[in-house]
Amino acid sequence: MEFSTKSITPDKAKCDCIVAGVFESRRLSAPAQALDKAAGGHLARLLRRGDMDGKRGATLLLHGAPGIAAARVLLVGLGKEAAYGDKANREAVAAALRALKAGGSRDAVLTLGEVPLPGRDAAWRVRQGVLAANDALYRSDFLKSQREDAPSLSAVTFSVAAGEARAASAALAQGVAIAAGMDLARELGNLPANLCTPTYLAQQAQKLARTHRMKCQVLDHARMAKLGMGALLAVAAGARQPPRFIVLQYAGDKAKRKPVVLVGKGVTFDSGGISLKPGAEMDEMKYDMSGAASVLGALRAAAQMRLPLNIVGLIPATENMPGGGATRPGDIVTSLSGQTIEILNTDAEGRLILCDALTYAGRFEPDCVVDIATQTGACVIALGAVASGLMANDETLAGELLAAGQAAGDRAWQLPLWDDYQEMLKSNFADIPNISGSRAAGTITGACFLARFTGQYRWAHLDIAGTAWRSGKEKGSTGRPVPLLTHFLLQRAGKL
Ligand code: BES
Ligand code: MN
Ligand code: ZN
Repeated sequence: MEFSTKSITPDKAKCDCIVAGVFESRRLSAPAQALDKAAGGHLARLLRRGDMDGKRGATLLLHGAPGIAAARVLLVGLGKEAAYGDKANREAVAAALRALKAGGSRDAVLTLGEVPLPGRDAAWRVRQGVLAANDALYRSDFLKSQREDAPSLSAVTFSVAAGEARAASAALAQGVAIAAGMDLARELGNLPANLCTPTYLAQQAQKLARTHRMKCQVLDHARMAKLGMGALLAVAAGARQPPRFIVLQYAGDKAKRKPVVLVGKGVTFDSGGISLKPGAEMDEMKYDMSGAASVLGALRAAAQMRLPLNIVGLIPATENMPGGGATRPGDIVTSLSGQTIEILNTDAEGRLILCDALTYAGRFEPDCVVDIATQTGACVIALGAVASGLMANDETLAGELLAAGQAAGDRAWQLPLWDDYQEMLKSNFADIPNISGSRAAGTITGACFLARFTGQYRWAHLDIAGTAWRSGKEKGSTGRPVPLLTHFLLQRAGKL
């Protein structure tokens, strides 16, 4: 899809379809008013007749409206004017794109971004417009032998007021980059575990490095063993697929500037290992590499925007499988940090691969480290699919990430990491167990485990178990938290 911005006069815009918003009780947005005026009151008449009422998500397609240059007019319901906010805006763009996809238009002009939104400037409206449009257009039928016909729509223009054209075109480029990052994350998330193996993830990272001039290093089993990544290799022990440790470096700033390190959980399939998961919905454990995918997506977006930052992506990648060689409950291993771990449950594997990656992160003398992981079912219980769980050892960093999520429409919510919770992690035989004795505060005790491996740097942990994919009929990867991560990077680069 080709996205662009332009300042236009609604009735004069030559295109296959012009899209304008209508509030509930038939109040026209300013661009819709301009269209109505040019059409001699045609639109208002149709609305009065009851063809559409402006309810959220409703659409009405008109052909050959008089006095209007566009071949079609698509009216989109914005809902109640007093309740018009981020979510209503996103839904309106999505509804417009769904209707456009079903119709025959090849190019369309969206005026929805010209409708004022409380607290949001034109740049924000364009950036989020691109993301909402791209979401509505996303298809995951690449493995079907009979693919749906591609929609005829190939170009979408976001109209902006004349004075906002410059800010809008910068925001458009950001939106397009973030969308590309989300698409990469989604593509990898949806790809099944027989195709998306640790080796495949490493190849994708190498491909990304080639296109965007990044440095990519892939450590194999022998290298990891030599380094002493005993926790990561304990997870890989039952798998036929060989593990990989991916190091991807983007250098957008002076070499001496400390990097942001992003660490993504890359479990390409989580069967639970010997602590085998129940069968129901186990297919969803192909998404257990969504943290890794979001790291690759965020790096792709950052590189495409040429952000003046240094960023390191670390991805411990492995399957978690049962088998004769698999780690047993009760086994004790030595992590890269030197701490010994009693693996009481092989299904708490994310923390085992992340702890070695967090130790490794120390090598880069990071400004801060953010790890991203589909880490606990408990986080789905606590926050559902709305917010990712955030825990941190530094309140400034936590605040930055919360604000980024808020601005990106990809929210996180903070949970405490008080010492009281650390007391729940005690082993009779090793330095630390990989689970606590109880199910209480499972998301927090998972993060507490990681906190034992974070050394001196500022660190935050995002538990994305509830947000990285949708279950049920609309099953599929969401591309989250790529928007949060890229906004965080944009903020740090002073580009917002
Ligand atoms: N990948 C899972 C977490 C998960 C579960 C994500 C369901 C999304 C949906 C993780 O490796 C896991 O199995 N966690 C265990 C931890 C427990 C054994 C302490 C869990 O949440 O049950
Ligand atoms: Mn698990
Ligand atoms: Zn897992």
